[in-house]
Amino acid sequence: MIEHFQDLIDQLSGTKLERWATLMPEQIETGLSEKRFGDLSGWKEFLYSLPKINTETIDIESEVRFGSSDEHDEATRSQIESCLKGLIPWRKGPFNIHGTHINTEWRSDWKWDRLTPYLKPLENKLVLDVGCGNGYHCWRMLGMGASRVIGIDPSPRFVIQFEMIKHFFKSAPIHVLPVAMEAVPEKLQAFDTTFSMGVLYHRRSPIDHLKELKDTLKPGGQLILETLIVDGELGYSLVPEGRYAMMNNVWFLPSPSTLIGWLKKIGFTSVELVDINETTTEEQRKTPWMKFHSLEQFLDPEDQTKTIEGYPRPKRAIFSAINP
Ligand SMILES: C[S@@+](CC[C@H](N)C(=O)[O-])C[C@H]1O[C@@H](n2cnc3c(N)ncnc32)[C@H](O)[C@@H]1O
Repeated sequence: MIEHFQDLIDQLSGTKLERWATLMPEQIETGLSEKRFGDLSGWKEFLYSLPKINTETIDIESEVRFGSSDEHDEATRSQIESCLKGLIPWRKGPFNIHGTHINTEWRSDWKWDRLTPYLKPLENKLVLDVGCGNGYHCWRMLGMGASRVIGIDPSPRFVIQFEMIKHFFKSAPIHVLPVAMEAVPEKLQAFDTTFSMGVLYHRRSPIDHLKELKDTLKPGGQLILETLIVDGELGYSLVPEGRYAMMNNVWFLPSPSTLIGWLKKIGFTSVELVDINETTTEEQRKTPWMKFHSLEQFLDPEDQTKTIEGYPRPKRAIFSAINP
């Protein structure tokens, strides 16, 4: 699938990201290897079965909408819908694609609305979105005027979902690479804004993650960090014994003051907690596009303040910090 990334690799030559660009062909081959990921060839079939059509209307400023149902005939609309359904479950969104509303598990637009008041302007900026999932927020970053958005996510399903959306706006300066943060070269110091949302608690070594994020930023660049937190004093973090809200790869859930301390210790300045939000079953829920259990089933049916394992129910916070 290198052809989906060749324009990016070419355009990064001679820039601060050239060092990374030279590694990309191998990273893409490994990250999208059909030997490693048995379902990948089936997903690619859905991607390549999308009709090659023009998209006349695009909105990535107030939502992510490509085309409308009246731009094409019913057969085309239904072909698009059945290809998109081939990649179920869709977790992050929503998307509207030529009349098909992808009603995703998460209202990712709500998180976006909570954080945008605290963003430094993205116009003509180079942006990195670490753990971007299927790239929903990457489109919104582009919609705020970014000159280029690079998303990274090690899950090939999400990379293919992203490509299915990008199929309708192929020339957009936005890419999602099948790469984990640990594989990004050290000390790039190239991005104006770096986002890490929903990733910190998946990392066994959260302070190393913060250091890696800092190293991606130019001097003066902004980090937007979003993660699960728990109430508690400075220094407290919850390390769940087993699963947390049914997720089995959750390591550290710090209190907000603990996380502010970690960010400052790494050398970030202007560290601010800008939002705290308890996740509701309106924001994360089962839909026809994500048919598995969702938040409602992850909470204790007798006591909705707790997860099914007895921990505090999910609460998420957004932090802004500057790389001096
Ligand atoms: C909870 S989702 C968050 C998606 C999106 N950023 C959002 O806020 O809606 C976490 C994502 O991080 C990705 N992820 C997990 N470990 C990662 C790592 N080491 N580097 C980059 N992404 C990672 C997962 O594949 C998943 O898509």
